[in-house]
Amino acid sequence: MRIIVGISGASGVVMGYEILKALRTADVETHLVVTEAAAQTLSFETDLRMEDLTSLASFTHDCRNMAASIASGSFLTDGMIVMPCSMKTLAGIVSGYADNLLLRAADVCLKEGRKLVLVPRETPLSLVHLRNLKTAAESGCAIVPPMLTFYGGSDTVEKQITHIVGKVLSQFKIPFEGGFHWTGREG
Ligand SMILES: Cc1cc2nc3c(=O)[nH]c(=O)nc-3n(C[C@H](O)[C@H](O)[C@H](O)COP(=O)(O)O)c2cc1C
Repeated sequence: MRIIVGISGASGVVMGYEILKALRTADVETHLVVTEAAAQTLSFETDLRMEDLTSLASFTHDCRNMAASIASGSFLTDGMIVMPCSMKTLAGIVSGYADNLLLRAADVCLKEGRKLVLVPRETPLSLVHLRNLKTAAESGCAIVPPMLTFYGGSDTVEKQITHIVGKVLSQFKIPFEGGFHWTGREG
């Protein structure tokens, strides 16, 4: 499989790091694009360096390079994950305002009918955000917000992130050993 990973400047850039790790473990070819704002949040929120992200990706593209492979529909992919997805990037996606490579790659996924999974992060959500999320869903995006989960023993931040990673991977039917799968309870 070949999947584009976009990391934008919402809080939770570490979730982008974790999805890259999981995709690497699953032997997926990844094409990483990180926005300028995400580079900032990386330094504000984590001890990670940009190389920690890029070393996990099969290929990394400069967000300003509109001539990158992933800017074209003729470059075949299985889709894209935007994790985390800022409200600004969400707005760009739903309006087709593709002024950086992440937005262009997402635009390509939409026009080619490829899977586009958004992990939007903001709280509280304004009416504008909610309208944009609705438009994204109507356009075919899968909306997988990083919601807290309390079943399956997700009692640490790390386990909460792992749960979201599993939810995102399941959008592509990629098995994830670290994820919790509900198997039912007898009534
Ligand atoms: C520490 C920090 C945390 C932020 N968290 C969020 C967030 O959770 N959601 C959001 O939509 N924007 C958040 N922002 C604002 C975005 O970074 C900003 O809107 C930026 O322009 C997004 O650009 P991008 O979508 O191109 O990455 C945050 C900014 C900073 C500095």
